[in-house]
Amino acid sequence: MLPRFFRPTIAIAQNGVKQFSSSSQRDAKVAVMGASGGIGQPLSLLLKESPLVTELSLYDIVNTPGVAADLSHINTASKVKGFTGPDQLRDSLKGVQVVVIPAGVPRKPGMTRDDLFNTNASIVRDLAQAVADVAPKAFIAIISNPVNSTVPIASEVLQKAGVYDPNRIFGVTTLDIVRSNAFVGEAKGLDPKKVNVPVIGGHSGITIIPLISQATPSVSFPTDQLQALTERIQEAGTEVVKAKAGTGSATLSMAYAGARFAFSLIRALNGESNVIECSYVRSNVTEAKYFSTPILLGKNGVEKNLGLGKLSKFESKLLDAAIPELKKNIQKGEDFVSKK
Ligand SMILES: NC(=O)c1ccc[n+]([C@@H]2O[C@H](COP(=O)([O-])OP(=O)(O)OC[C@H]3O[C@@H](n4cnc5c(N)ncnc54)[C@H](O)[C@@H]3O)[C@@H](O)[C@H]2O)c1
Repeated sequence: MLPRFFRPTIAIAQNGVKQFSSSSQRDAKVAVMGASGGIGQPLSLLLKESPLVTELSLYDIVNTPGVAADLSHINTASKVKGFTGPDQLRDSLKGVQVVVIPAGVPRKPGMTRDDLFNTNASIVRDLAQAVADVAPKAFIAIISNPVNSTVPIASEVLQKAGVYDPNRIFGVTTLDIVRSNAFVGEAKGLDPKKVNVPVIGGHSGITIIPLISQATPSVSFPTDQLQALTERIQEAGTEVVKAKAGTGSATLSMAYAGARFAFSLIRALNGESNVIECSYVRSNVTEAKYFSTPILLGKNGVEKNLGLGKLSKFESKLLDAAIPELKKNIQKGEDFVSKK
């Protein structure tokens, strides 16, 4: 059985009669910005495969005609169109409801996500400007690192353009949840698809705060194992960067996580209730202006921030350590736009 977020909203009942779920299926046009990349291609494949997506707009500075031609031969109903280079950027965003941004360079061994700032900051700034001009009401899901700073960058750009809606901009931290579920499932012999570990904070090193005390089903670990598991989750991206030995960072698991997040946004747009994802959003839950917590998603984006929940002592310490780093990353993003 496919996980819930990969399932269509129209289900076939036991007797073979089509049943409509509580949500009504609508057109969902999704744009992938950076569609030819290591994440962009498998992400686009997963989106093409889903009946939730009716149109797929693929933008990159290279190779989108080939990626679009290739995907368009898959016999699913969604239409696929490729757009290449700045001249076609605005056209790629016309009429889209969801914009997913994995554009930008990935890490090489020895690099932190912040080392990507110089290259990726301007890429995200320019893409956000185009969204502000062409699709100001779209939901924006930002994958490009450093997420802790790229979300503030996009937010500042939209604010300057006068179209900022904090409920519509999301930093995609879903891979941290996917990884936590996989690792906890593995450690406890549980089906990882049935595990849910909320992960709060940001998306780099010590700012990644897995809330194992709030996992479902409930699990517990001795302190040394909890410490090791937490550190593994915080450094899981680096584990992949090292294993890929200079050829990139997580792409396939990120595509899976990015598709899960995009499907949740579309399901919320379609009126489905109780769609919850952790995401890095504008927040007043902590001192950090942007912070990831579980979010109830609705037709207008963030419907309700579900907050931190009850933290263990161990998790409260992780939170204390994360806040100064997060604030620094956020300031860096905001300064990048305001100093232009
Ligand atoms: N949020 C997360 O959990 C997470 C996880 C893994 C990777 N990432 C980040 O995702 C980003 C992409 O990673 P990747 O492995 O796909 O990299 P990649 O180099 O394989 O692909 C990036 C793509 O972006 C394109 N691109 C560059 N400049 C562009 C622009 N101005 N407009 C549109 N497209 C542009 C490139 O042509 C390329 O096709 C990186 O910043 C990486 O750090 C985030």
